[in-house]
Amino acid sequence: MILSIESSCDDSALAVTGLADRKVLFHRKISQEKAHAAYGGVVPELASRLHAVDLPRLLEEAAPFLPKIKAVAVTNAPGLSVTLLEGVAMAQALAVAKRVPLIAINHLKAHIYSLFIEKPARFPMLVLLISGGHTMVLDVKGYDDITILASTIDDSFGESFDKTAKMMGLGYPGGPIIEKLAQKGDPTRFALPVPLKNSPRLAFSYSGLKNAVRLLVQEHAPLDEQTRCDIAAAFQKAAVAHLLHKCKKVFDTYRPADFAIVGGASANLAVREAFEKLCQTYGATLHLAELKYCADNAAMVGRCALEAYERQDFTPPSALRVTPRTDKIF
Ligand code: KG4
Ligand code: ZN
Repeated sequence: MILSIESSCDDSALAVTGLADRKVLFHRKISQEKAHAAYGGVVPELASRLHAVDLPRLLEEAAPFLPKIKAVAVTNAPGLSVTLLEGVAMAQALAVAKRVPLIAINHLKAHIYSLFIEKPARFPMLVLLISGGHTMVLDVKGYDDITILASTIDDSFGESFDKTAKMMGLGYPGGPIIEKLAQKGDPTRFALPVPLKNSPRLAFSYSGLKNAVRLLVQEHAPLDEQTRCDIAAAFQKAAVAHLLHKCKKVFDTYRPADFAIVGGASANLAVREAFEKLCQTYGATLHLAELKYCADNAAMVGRCALEAYERQDFTPPSALRVTPRTDKIF
């Protein structure tokens, strides 16, 4: 069995995965969402302190599995350095104490492997990764062969939901809150610009849309319930249209047979519906992770670690570093 640990942002998560059958035997997370809600975003110092309490709590729960653990895996990049360190320190100690190999896992790669929990991996595939920290289209040919085809030049897709919710005083994380409001809103009442609509660039940008939302919120303050829903609907419509517009270019160029969407924001139903249609039009198969594995979790870290274990891709505990910088991701 592999014990896997995730603490790259605001979820403390632990999982245990069978080495031979890939079965998830233990899968738990403690989310800090409520603690950060008052601030409208993740406060790194607070997140770090909470991991220091919650990771050991989860480890106590997983204790019955510890005698059978053959490797320890942990997310070491990218993410918040002060929160990554909490998971990494625990993993280092466990690997030394149990004399088992330590596996460093890239968080984005783990999101890709959320597609393959309890099943064999399947490549090549183009992957749209939409999370709180990243918005990317990846050409994934295999475990060690990932190329970034497009990424954001400013904010990420998930982050733009978080900021829209914050501007309307709605708490954190904004994704599910905005999606729910948007379902009750009229997306035609306000017209928001689709980012980079007239640019040939294969890139994403959400800061202009965020500013447009800011102006709308200011103009209609104080917001009544219906106006909040209408702004959420207009924002979500533009945000999803932007993903779709740029991904159409990707489809035109690469004609993928298999396309996947991963990351916390891949739970969004408007995204899922829009891409179902896009994939149908292009005759591609759409792959999505189970809803419970879209947001950050340790089962996807464990699944990715199975691949590393097969390749004996191990890191000595004293050599393991956190790598929060994202300029060289894969
Ligand atoms: O992958 P994830 O759990 O953490 C990171 O790696 O960042 O993604 C979290 C992000 C947050 O920005 C959250 O607001 C967004 O995903 N998100 C959503 C939805 N659910 C979560 N965004 C849009 N619609 C949703 N339903
Ligand atoms: Zn994530």
